[in-house]
Parts: sequence; structure tokens; C-alpha cells
Amino acid sequence: MRHDISRLVDGATYRSGNPFALWRWMRENAPVVWHEPGVFPGFWSLTRFAEVKEVLRDAETFSSSSGILLRPLAQGVDPGSDRTLALSDAPRHTVLRGAIAGWFAPRNLRLLTDSLNSAAHSIVRDAVRASRIDFVTEVAAKLPLEVVCAFLGIPDEDRPSIVEWSTDAFCAGTAEERSIAHLQILDYFGDLAERRRSRPGEDLVSVLAGVRFENAYLPLEEVVLNCDNLLVGGTENVRLAMSGGMLALLERPGQWALLREDFEGAVDTAVEEILRWTSSATHILRRARRDVVLGGQRIRRGDLVVCWLTSANRDPAQFTDPDVFDVRRTPNRHLALGAGPHYCVGTRLAKLEIAAVLREFFAQVDQVLPDGEPEHLDSIVVNGLRRLPLRLTASAVSRPRGMAGVRG
Ligand code: HEM
Repeated sequence: MRHDISRLVDGATYRSGNPFALWRWMRENAPVVWHEPGVFPGFWSLTRFAEVKEVLRDAETFSSSSGILLRPLAQGVDPGSDRTLALSDAPRHTVLRGAIAGWFAPRNLRLLTDSLNSAAHSIVRDAVRASRIDFVTEVAAKLPLEVVCAFLGIPDEDRPSIVEWSTDAFCAGTAEERSIAHLQILDYFGDLAERRRSRPGEDLVSVLAGVRFENAYLPLEEVVLNCDNLLVGGTENVRLAMSGGMLALLERPGQWALLREDFEGAVDTAVEEILRWTSSATHILRRARRDVVLGGQRIRRGDLVVCWLTSANRDPAQFTDPDVFDVRRTPNRHLALGAGPHYCVGTRLAKLEIAAVLREFFAQVDQVLPDGEPEHLDSIVVNGLRRLPLRLTASAVSRPRGMAGVRG
């Protein structure tokens, strides 16, 4: 059956929770295909693992500096273009990456780990006490936000405001409310960055405020845009991976049992499989800097190329039984966190967060039951769950880790 490839850029395709048939057809029949301009500018779609990886690894040929997400033509250029870590090429990218990735080194993350684990403990404890919860908002959204506030050095007294604005920026009812909340975040980071430039602390905002490029400090506006990217990057994807992972486990009692039997032995491969399976960053965009041939198609200099990561991560040429969720899968070299010079800088942190929530779930929860239908987002940028209603029963006694049961 022929598929309509314009459905790729229609939010309804993702709301259905099953864009996979379309991607399968494209991988088999049109793996490198041109989309005519309409609401979006014209672009090439790549759906196979091989071409997606080739593009992500070749930053010399494929530039990030004019944006990494498909934007409707009416929205114009991304304000972060050529200014933030994700939206820059070398040499700016190399300088910013050195500063930010340095901060995410294992030594710093070890300092964060205790507070991360204790935050995960309290969040799951509160969820168990509440008993009927939306896992997305009451667990999966909370931990990443607390962690981001910690590494950006947001003072304790300001955190409730950041939580409120971030929640509104993602979830408020109208576009206007979302954009007001977003402006409040940007304003807040503007003040914080100014304070940190004059009195640096140990946090990432201070690191960014102290970065020098071409013999000058970054303009404060660029510091702010980078903070904003970290806030969004550090919260949205983790929330979606965590909640999609929880649903995948709930729907597969056998996989849940495997993890329960040997939590510490299986958690690393399980988290990796959750990342591949959820692939929450649906696509990444690049612009070709020279003429190049990809999958037999001639891409012209200046053309936009969209890498559909979620499709690449279900490519049977790369993964055995790609549509099977397997917490023991090895090897599992997926592209959910990108590849090449822009490979996700928050990788280790994201994995620590997902593992911490799972660990607490297995330790504190006796039984997990669905409590209504999960709802999917209708975004073409990130895919995953908007809502995951669950009913939780606390462990009767304090059990050793890895003792939670599930009923589908
Ligand atoms: C499940 C969680 C996550 C997923 C799926 C994810 C996905 C990605 C992907 C696909 C990229 C590559 C973008 C590109 O090639 O243009 C990326 C880059 C990035 N991510 Fe993540 N991410 C996650 C967690 C995080 C966290 C926790 C943080 C921050 C604390 C973060 C911050 C960033 C930043 C700053 C970049 C840009 C890196 C660069 O351009 O050099 N991400 N992420």
C-alpha cells in the first residue's frame, strides 16, 4: 500500500501513537525523498539508520547553524541560530561544547548523584502516597526539572517559579500562555546570568557566563539562549523517555519481570532499550553545505535534510527484531541521543535519571495498574506521552530493590 509522506509533518500522525507503518514504508520504498515546500520549507527526509548516521557524523558537510528543527515558514529563523551550542558549527561549537561538556564530566555528575537519587526517592514516595497519578506530570516531569535547577544553580527560593513557568511553557492551554511563560523563563535567566558573570558560582550558568569566544564574553543574550536550551533539552526528552519506558514495561509483564529479577544486572541495558524504543527526539535537521549524494539522491548545497531518528532506531538493517522491546538487547547502538560532534551532552545524566526512577519504583511500589488510556503528544518535534494515568499500591513492607509487580 502506498503511503502519503506528507503525513510525516502532521501532528495527528504522532497523536495516534503509531507512525511506524509510515516509516517502515518509507525505509523500504523512499528512504531519501524530497518533500515539496508548503507550511514547511522543502526538505529531504531520511528514514534509514545508515543515512541518518552518515549525516549526523559529518558536521563539515551538514550544518546545524541555521536550526536543527523543522519550523513552519511563517515562524522564520530560529532565534538560537548560530548562537547556541546545538545550533552552531565549529569553531563556535567547539568552544561552547568544551565548556558545557566539561561541566558534565563524571566528577561533577557524581556530586549530583546523591541529590538526584534522593529527589527520585521523594517523588516516587509522594506518587505512591497519592496512589492514583498521572505518571507523566507527577513523576517523569518532576525529577528532570529538579535536576536541571540544581545544575543551573537556580536558588531554592526561585525553583517554584521555574517549575510553574516550565510547566506552563510546555503544557498551558493556549499558545499565548505558553509563550508568556517562556518569556518569564528567559527574563529570569537574563537576571541570573548577569549576577553569575559578576559573582560566579560552581554552576553551569556561571560556566556559560564566563565563556569567551573570539576574545570576548558571550553576549548575555546568548548565555540566556543556551540556558534555555539546557532547560528544554534536560527536561522534555527525559520526561518522555521515562514515561514511554514505563508504558513499555507495563504493557510487557515478561520484560517487567526480567528487570525485577535482576534489577542492577539489567538496568543499564534496559535504560538503553528505553532510549531506543522511545526515541523522543523525533527528528533533527541539517543544511547541506555542499552538493552530496545520499542513498542515490543528489542533495544540493543549501538543501535541508531531516533525519527521522525514531525511524532510524527501528531499522531492521541495524537492529534484530527492531519492533520488539527487549530490556536485555545488546548490542544497542541507537541514535536516540544523536551521533557525531553534537551527540547529546546530557547522555549520562539522562541515563542516571531514568535508572533512579525505575529503581525507586521497583523498591517502593508493589503493584502498578493502568488507570485510563495513555494520551500521546501531537508534535512533530518530540514524540511520546502527554498523560499516563496509573494506580499504584505501596509495598506492604520495605522490600529489597526490584520487587514491584505489575498487572496489565
Ligand atoms: C532521554 C533524554 C534525551 C534525549 C532523547 C536527547 C536527545 C538529544 C539529541 C538527539 C541530540 C542531538 C542534537 C543534534 O544532533 O543536533 C541532543 C543534543 C543535546 N542535548 Fe540531549 N537528549 C536528552 C537528554 C538531555 C539532557 C538531560 C540534557 C541536559 C542536561 C541535554 C542537553 C542537550 C544539549 C545541550 C545538546 C546539544 C549538544 C551539541 O549540539 O553539542 N539532553 N540531545
